[in-house]
Amino acid sequence: MSTSDLFSFEPTPAQRATALREQLNHHAHLYYTLDAPELPDAEYDRLFRELQTLEAAHPELLAPDSPTQRVGGRVLDAFTPVRHAVPMLSINTETDTEPTGALNFDHRVRRALGLTEADAPLDYVAELKFDGLAMSLRYENGLLVQAATRGDGEVGEDVTHNIRTIGQIPLKLQAPTLPTASQPIPPVLEVRGEVYMRRDHFDALNDKQRAKIAAGAKGEKTFVNPRNAAAGAVRQLDSGIAAQRPLSFFAYGLGDITSPEQGGPAFDTHFQLLMQLKAWGFPVAEQTTVAHGADELVAFHQRIGASRDQLPYDIDGVVYKVNSLALQRQLGFVTREPRWAVAHKYPAQEQLTTVLAIDVQVGRTGKLTPVAKLAPVCVGNVTVTNATLHNEDEARRKDVRVGDTVIVRRAGDVIPEVVAVLPDKRVADAPPFTMPHQCPVCGSAAVREEGEADYRSTGGLFCSAQRKEASLQFAHSRAVEVEGLGDKLVEQLVDAGVVKTLPDLYRLGLTALASLDRMADKSALNILAALEKSKHTTLPRFLFGLGIRHVGEATAKELARHFGQLDRIMDATEEQLLEVSDVGPVVAQSIRTFFDQPHNREVVEQLRACGLHWAEGEPAERAAQPLAGKTFVLTGTFPTLSRDQAKDLLEAAGAKVAGSVSKKTDYVVAGAEAGSKLDKAQALGVEVLDEAGMMGLLGQG
Ligand code: IVH
Repeated sequence: MSTSDLFSFEPTPAQRATALREQLNHHAHLYYTLDAPELPDAEYDRLFRELQTLEAAHPELLAPDSPTQRVGGRVLDAFTPVRHAVPMLSINTETDTEPTGALNFDHRVRRALGLTEADAPLDYVAELKFDGLAMSLRYENGLLVQAATRGDGEVGEDVTHNIRTIGQIPLKLQAPTLPTASQPIPPVLEVRGEVYMRRDHFDALNDKQRAKIAAGAKGEKTFVNPRNAAAGAVRQLDSGIAAQRPLSFFAYGLGDITSPEQGGPAFDTHFQLLMQLKAWGFPVAEQTTVAHGADELVAFHQRIGASRDQLPYDIDGVVYKVNSLALQRQLGFVTREPRWAVAHKYPAQEQLTTVLAIDVQVGRTGKLTPVAKLAPVCVGNVTVTNATLHNEDEARRKDVRVGDTVIVRRAGDVIPEVVAVLPDKRVADAPPFTMPHQCPVCGSAAVREEGEADYRSTGGLFCSAQRKEASLQFAHSRAVEVEGLGDKLVEQLVDAGVVKTLPDLYRLGLTALASLDRMADKSALNILAALEKSKHTTLPRFLFGLGIRHVGEATAKELARHFGQLDRIMDATEEQLLEVSDVGPVVAQSIRTFFDQPHNREVVEQLRACGLHWAEGEPAERAAQPLAGKTFVLTGTFPTLSRDQAKDLLEAAGAKVAGSVSKKTDYVVAGAEAGSKLDKAQALGVEVLDEAGMMGLLGQG
């Protein structure tokens, strides 16, 4: 055991600086050279700033190998090094992430230019800060001759072979056509911009990668984020592989260019230059705009921040640049950063944290969702403690385990999710996560049906997590029908703990009901009366009310007709269930599983004990179905029948009743005050009937 284990001590500034340098160099190597970052950007930035602050306070600690002294990255041996004619520099980052942080930049610029408040506002160009990798594209006499990465800012790598595969990058500059951007093509032009991957392309790429991995391909991996995927593609030695990775490009500036004295173009402003690049055929983001004064920069930061999640690609902030090129020259550079530009970031959408536990939550419909419980971490200004793992396949694909260090992402209002695990930080022997085969809430079997992504609790009526859904289904007007028992009331009854299982509904007393919020005595009495009335029901309604997965109203009717009695259904084998028309293997299995749960049988028994009853009969042959295969749409008010009654009659005759009119509709039955459905039927030439006409078709005219 070393002394440092026995005595914890504060490191000296020199020790801390060395430690930070080692850490930062390690991560810069992973990020820039190996395209395999292990730290979220925000964490890297934090360490970087700590080192910068330390070196500023102790200038004697500044070392030439400090990562603060170079832009970052090393050149891979396998690529040809390219010395940039004009260095590719970095930009200063505004640390205040509030929109008003833009005012600091305006102050600095105005002070450096010796402007006072009396002077007019400055013009800036406001751009997006694309989250990809910087690229320098060299054109000679209008032809793309070389594409180079930034590398360390002085020397990058020649990646022309890969960049040529990006459709958005012109191989030959377009001849100027617009009068507003009509500069001649210069002999030498270096366009600087960002290579990135759109999020939808990224998702599609990862899907493809997963398929390859599933098919047993060696050496394939999925990518952590679009930037990581773009960097990997650009730095492929094989451009055939790069070509299969869909990349995009935005231009945002210039490197080397033939001077006006040598016959090159002359620009007055940065915006004019961008418009010229656009005219030559480069993509320039449509959001790019001239901002008059600091207030418009603040507004830009706000506006882009609010719509950031709707962009098809990732940005990590915005960039402000002084528009006048003359003023840019006057402002010049401090160390290696231009004084005329600043990056203004948004709160990071990704952070690093650890997984404390993996819980499984049960939703209202019985769906089981694995959720990672995280050590609290602030992501995009919100503290995150949970991240969904969606389902078994996702959890397995990401292979998240308890104790893991993970990257969590939260974009806008989207539920936080685990992006990736850092495998190096895994504690030894952490067991892989497995989905439970029992509902964690009620202990009933949890099953995953073929072709489905989710496990579901079969607890149904018994599972307290499913109480609300089960009660609503049961009380549905086409099920057992408890008039007045809606969403709000069920919510209150379940939350108050009065209704734990369905039979509890029939044990409700006046006092319990009347004590609920906003429940007048009269309404409470009405509910009790409705409950009483609901006890006299029918077998199909009761079956439908049980909420068995895949058993809708029509199936419930078929089951009742085929078996005649509830007990026969409860005890039917899957083979016997398959004899029912409309019942396939999935439905048969679902019914069987439901009634195999002792809890569910118990609930049925208790409901019967509470007085629920219906007429039972002998198995019946299927009634004649004169309207089988026909689709009806009902609209308006009928003279004698309610809509539900009309629907029942039609369905009993084998017809389907749909909600909207289409070319597939055979008949529209229209009553008084029929609306747009009638218009649509006439427009489509669908036959329109009245109630009497419908009864005629049913043979009951
Ligand atoms: S201007 C001298 N504009 O951000 C100024 N950079 O450190 C050069 N970036 O990796 C940069 N969007 O690739 C500029 N609209 C934009 C940008 C942008 C993204 C990247 C750039 C570099 C970093 C700047």
